[in-house]
Amino acid sequence: MSIVVTGASGQLGRLAVEALLDRGVSASDIVATGRDIDRIKEFADRGVVVRRADFADPDGLTAAFEGADKLLLVSTTTVDERVANHRRAIDAAVAAGASLVAYTSMSHADTATTILASTHRATEEYLRARGVPSVLLRNSWYLENYMDQLPLVLRNEAVVGAAGQGRISAAARADYAEAAAVVLTTEGHVGAVYELGGDEAFTLTGLATAISAVAGRQISYTDLPADEFARALTDAGLPADLAHVLADADLGMSRDELFTGSGDLSRLIGRPTTSLADAVAAALR
Ligand SMILES: NC(=O)c1ccc[n+]([C@@H]2O[C@H](COP(=O)([O-])OP(=O)(O)OC[C@H]3O[C@@H](n4cnc5c(N)ncnc54)[C@H](OP(=O)(O)O)[C@@H]3O)[C@@H](O)[C@H]2O)c1
Repeated sequence: MSIVVTGASGQLGRLAVEALLDRGVSASDIVATGRDIDRIKEFADRGVVVRRADFADPDGLTAAFEGADKLLLVSTTTVDERVANHRRAIDAAVAAGASLVAYTSMSHADTATTILASTHRATEEYLRARGVPSVLLRNSWYLENYMDQLPLVLRNEAVVGAAGQGRISAAARADYAEAAAVVLTTEGHVGAVYELGGDEAFTLTGLATAISAVAGRQISYTDLPADEFARALTDAGLPADLAHVLADADLGMSRDELFTGSGDLSRLIGRPTTSLADAVAAALR
C-alpha cells in the first residue's frame, strides 16, 4: 500500500506525513512529494519515499504518483492556477489507478460564494467528473492564520477584519492533518464529505476577547468594509490580488461560510479539537 501526500514541503502536508507515521504507517509506504525535494530531505532521512511533483508538469506527476493506492491532494497556493493544477493532479491519480483521493477542500465549497470556494468547487466537480473514488476534507480556516497575526494585533491593540459577527470554525493545521491521516488509514470514507472545523466557532470579536484574556490587555475588534480591509492588508505588505482574495474570504465569513457545527473533525480524530484559548496561550507563551 502506498499513500502519496502532495504539498509535503508545506505546513499542512508536512503535518499529514507526520500524522501518518504517528498512526503506524510504515515510512516506506508513504510517498512525500513537493516541488523542491531538498525541502523534504528530512523525510527521506527517515525512510519516507520522496519524489518531486509539480502540478504544472503532467509527465512528472505521472512518475510521482506511480503505484499510488491513496493520494492526499493538498490544494495548491496560487489561486488563479489552482483549478488547472488540481485537474492535472487528479488526471495523474486516475492514471495511477488510485483507490482513493482525499482532497483538502474548503467549508461548504458547493454553496459558498467566495473566490476561494469557487476554486475548490471546480476541483470537487472535476473529481466527480473523472469518477475517481474520493473523499472531501472541507477545511475551515486555520487557527494559525490568526496566531501568526498576534504580534501585529498586540502592537495595534486591535484585531482588524471584514468578517462582521460571522462565526468561524477555525482549527489547528495539526488537527486537519490528523483527520486526513485517519481518512487515509481507515475504511469507509469513499464518497464522504466532511465539513471540518473547530468544536467551538468564534467571531472576530470573540478572537479579540480571547487574546485580551491571555495577554491581560484590552484588544478590540475593528470591523472594516471589505475594500478598506483589503487596503489595510496591502499597506501591511500583501500583494493586491492576495489582499482582495483575503478580504473576500472575510466577507464569506460574515455570511457564516467558514462555520460548521458538524462535529466531523473531532469525530474523525477521536478527541476535542485544539481550542482557541489553548492556541492563543501557546502562541503567546
Ligand atoms: N484553511 C485555511 O485557512 C487556508 C489558509 C491558507 C491556505 N490554505 C490552503 O491549504 C493549502 C495547504 O496549506 P499550507 O498552510 O500547508 O500551505 P503552504 O505551507 O503554503 O504549502 C503549500 C504547499 O503546496 C505546494 N504547491 C504549491 N504549488 C504547487 C504546485 N504547482 N505543484 C505542487 N505543489 C505545489 C507547495 O510546494 P512548494 O514547497 O514547492 O511551494 C507547498 O508544499 C494551501 O496550499 C491552500 O490551498 C488554506
